[in-house]
Amino acid sequence: MNVVQRRSFAQTPLSQKHAAIFIEIAERLSGNRITPDQVDFLTLRVRRRMRVYRDESFEGYIRRVQDDQVEEHALMESLVTHTTDFFREPGHFKWLRNGGLNGLTDGKPASCLNVWSAACSLGSELWSTAIEIAQFQEDAGVPYCANLVGTDISKTILARARAAIFSAEEISGLPIQYRSKYLQRNSIENQRFRIASPLLESASFVAHNLLTPPLFSTLQFDLSLLRNVLLYFNKDDQQRVFNHVLSRLRPGGILMIGHTEVLSIETIGTRRVGPAIFIKE
Ligand SMILES: C[S@@+](CC[C@H](N)C(=O)[O-])C[C@H]1O[C@@H](n2cnc3c(N)ncnc32)[C@H](O)[C@@H]1O
Repeated sequence: MNVVQRRSFAQTPLSQKHAAIFIEIAERLSGNRITPDQVDFLTLRVRRRMRVYRDESFEGYIRRVQDDQVEEHALMESLVTHTTDFFREPGHFKWLRNGGLNGLTDGKPASCLNVWSAACSLGSELWSTAIEIAQFQEDAGVPYCANLVGTDISKTILARARAAIFSAEEISGLPIQYRSKYLQRNSIENQRFRIASPLLESASFVAHNLLTPPLFSTLQFDLSLLRNVLLYFNKDDQQRVFNHVLSRLRPGGILMIGHTEVLSIETIGTRRVGPAIFIKE
């Protein structure tokens, strides 16, 4: 390709035929639906992957993806949305604070709760939950104790979640009074903050595709967060994933989903106890 051809290719969006191939890959591997009107987003993300190999044509990159499962997975990871924040959907954390945690521990704050953040992205919602538990236990005068597991389909995002290091922008949702208490400045780079002990040691992160049968066959969670991921699935997958996560919750355990996701789900086997909050019966 000469310079002029290269320049004009750089501005060419994916054709419908090529877009359909990438949309099919994203949906098959992750269940995430990308609509044809998102072609600009799709083109941008595909080009980003192509730059890794200096591929110069969509056809060439499609051949690569079809021959290489690792790249196919990397492409899928680049097509899912990781938007998250500390204390996102604050009603859920308020509910935990105002009696939810007391109910979950049966009035015994020293109990060690098992928490699953399904589709955890960077871990912001997992750490927000850990902070609520830590505050609840501190108020009761008992030491911090919790086991939190974060899962996500994206290994790249999980590596960042495990590091538990955040930029100033990424912690903007974290109330000021919690920052000095639960974060430490990352010694290498000052503008970065790391989750501090003992919260840091109370969490682990594992790769898991929610469309497949749930992990942890022997573990029953007290609290599961399945937020802002169902909306990317088709209706059948939404229900399947909801049921998977529910199956790993103990009776009396709490499941939280995204506020916009409530309408599309049959919540059989649960009772609604708050905004997008369900107790397993
Ligand atoms: C928008 S983020 C939501 C993060 C967090 N739950 C929240 O509410 O802030 C969606 C996350 O779901 C993950 N995800 C998408 N499809 C998935 C699947 N099939 N299995 C597991 N995780 C998935 C993405 O990698 C992404 O990190």
